[in-house]
Amino acid sequence: MADPLNRIQKIASHLDPAKPRKFKVALLGAAGGIGQPLSMLLKMSPYVSDLALYDVANTPGVAADVSHMSTAARVRGYLGPDQLGAALAGAALVIIPAGVPRKPGMTRDDLFNINAGIVRGLAEGVARHCPGAWVAIISNPVNSTVPIAAEVLQKAGVLNPAKLFGVTTLDVVRAEAFVGELTGTDPRDVHVPVVGGHAGVTILPLLSQARPPLPAGMSAEARKALMGRIQDAGTEVVQAKAGAGSATLSMAYAAARFADSCLRAMAGEGPVAEYAYIRHPPRLGSGASAAVAADLPYFSSPVRLGRLGVEEVLPLGPLDAMEAENFAAMKAELLGSIQKGVEFAAKGP
Ligand code: NAI
Repeated sequence: MADPLNRIQKIASHLDPAKPRKFKVALLGAAGGIGQPLSMLLKMSPYVSDLALYDVANTPGVAADVSHMSTAARVRGYLGPDQLGAALAGAALVIIPAGVPRKPGMTRDDLFNINAGIVRGLAEGVARHCPGAWVAIISNPVNSTVPIAAEVLQKAGVLNPAKLFGVTTLDVVRAEAFVGELTGTDPRDVHVPVVGGHAGVTILPLLSQARPPLPAGMSAEARKALMGRIQDAGTEVVQAKAGAGSATLSMAYAAARFADSCLRAMAGEGPVAEYAYIRHPPRLGSGASAAVAADLPYFSSPVRLGRLGVEEVLPLGPLDAMEAENFAAMKAELLGSIQKGVEFAAKGP
């Protein structure tokens, strides 16, 4: 069966010289473990004209440091809520890794009490200062923080679900790395769809669709173990860092890759294929299975990005028995996390 993502990647790109090819990107939480290496990677992007580095601490130092890199993007640091508006004004893409990370023994949901308020405040800033921007949320729990941002933007009358994303690229990156290792393939040539949400069992790698395929003789137990490793890979890093935080370097790599996809799509170099945790209004539901669209208003899906954001939700493709079982088993948790976010936003500050 034709792989829709590969099919789209093969479509020739169409460049329009009249349209902008470089954009202002605002990074909120820029001085943190993810924010610092991500600042560096964004400064290296040929699609970034201006890089606004915002945080509540330490941005002058990060901005001074990154600004000395001999690449074209103009860098400015913004410190504290008084400067949030200036950081956001004119931004085409806002990336949000602001908030606390996990420590050993914590789930992503344990971060909710602190990060929910941070994301709400920053989404209010987006609504006020750059309501047309694409917004990519990294702050955990992504399953809840994206619905929070959506509610805030909706309340302000500026929600465009085609431009709001939870960044789940790290799950895809991990699946590519692990399947590459297992099959002896360069991970850049590996393709593994990862859908669902971004926490534990809600992370649903579709290993049956992996390219190259998993070894034919691989046992069901080994496949299950691989699925479990992808789902728990974040915890592997949290434990190895032993209290010093969660994934930062691999996350910065993943976020830079996702940002690159967004900026290429904005520049008209689309269509660009990606995975992202998005809201599924009927308008976006063409490719998603009816069950997904009906039961789960937010779901990480394969999408086609164009100038307008998500232009098409691509089909999930066939799920094997193990994947279908996992899908059924995770729905309640994902829905609960979505509702928690929606209710938090409804309560207001
Ligand atoms: P960190 O603690 O090193 O950095 C967070 C930064 O956010 C700090 O510099 C802090 O000053 C800043 N911050 C706090 N409140 C802020 C506000 N109101 N406005 C702007 N900045 C603010 O944490 P790290 O390791 O960078 O992780 C950040 C978030 O990303 C965490 O929530 C973590 O769970 C999440 N994460 C998400 C992943 C994903 O796949 N989506 C993967 C790894 C982490």
